[in-house]
Amino acid sequence: MLATRLADSVPAEPLLRIDGVRMHFPVRKGFFGRVVGSVRAVDGVSLEIHRGETLGLVGESGSGKTTLGRCIVRAYRPTTGRILYADGGQPVDLAELRKGALRPYRRKIRMVFQDPYGALNPRLTLLELIGEPLRIHGLVQGHEIEDRVAELLRTCGLRSEYMHRYPHAFSGGERQRIGIARALATSPSLLILDEAVSALDVSVRAQILNVPAGPAGTARPHLPLHLPRPLRRGAPLRPGGRDVSREDCGDDRCGTPLRPPAASLHRGAVVRGPAP
Ligand SMILES: Nc1ncnc2c1ncn2[C@@H]1O[C@H](COP(=O)(O)OP(=O)(O)OP(=O)(O)O)[C@@H](O)[C@H]1O
Ligand SMILES: [Mg+2]
Repeated sequence: MLATRLADSVPAEPLLRIDGVRMHFPVRKGFFGRVVGSVRAVDGVSLEIHRGETLGLVGESGSGKTTLGRCIVRAYRPTTGRILYADGGQPVDLAELRKGALRPYRRKIRMVFQDPYGALNPRLTLLELIGEPLRIHGLVQGHEIEDRVAELLRTCGLRSEYMHRYPHAFSGGERQRIGIARALATSPSLLILDEAVSALDVSVRAQILNVPAGPAGTARPHLPLHLPRPLRRGAPLRPGGRDVSREDCGDDRCGTPLRPPAASLHRGAVVRGPAP
């Protein structure tokens, strides 16, 4: 999974600072749902993401990558820890905010989910699915929605005529592209990509990696785990959701991480393909 900041400059204040985040899920038992333990999905993770930076989070299956992403978009409220987001002004702790107060941040921080089948409501057409965040955040009016959805579909390599179809009429890779179009719709400042191109073949990955971020087309998302070049810095996540430590990657074309745990995971994750 990875998070991408869509801009060019690198100011001192990080766009996102995660400070000691823990996410423990209760384990319940019996008719009354008594709590008998907890799953420590994420257990004390701290990291920073600066504007314009791409951070690859590398970890084995079950190490808490998806859970951490869901905490950042506040699909989950972390058990403890701070998620400080600073887009120009004072940092705001997203972990503390109530549902209503989160609304403006749901536009700025978007996530492409790992499962392209479960992530899309099967009862909505692509126009409704991709147009929903545009409408909710009041970004376009009336027929402009169709134009913007058509543009997003084309940007993600899908035909604009598809907008009246339902998700079941698409392959896994196409659904993943629909999810990416939906995430890009609001021109987010922070994009969290949970293995977002894993269902795509190499040529389509390259096409998606060259997608402009917003209408202005000023920035591009980079997806480090699946293409050689973008992984500048990596963060291995140990099993049990612990101990994220940053490390610079080597200068070679594959951006191989320098330390053994991340290096072995990275070797398994990299697919050689054209650099974006
Ligand atoms: N809602 C939940 N309730 C209880 N346990 C959960 C929940 N979601 C995740 N977990 C557990 O938390 C741990 C981390 O899961 P997570 O999905 O974040 O891993 P991951 O690193 O994304 O794995 P993968 O690479 O396979 O996608 C797993 O042991 C998982 O079973
Ligand atoms: Mg996952």
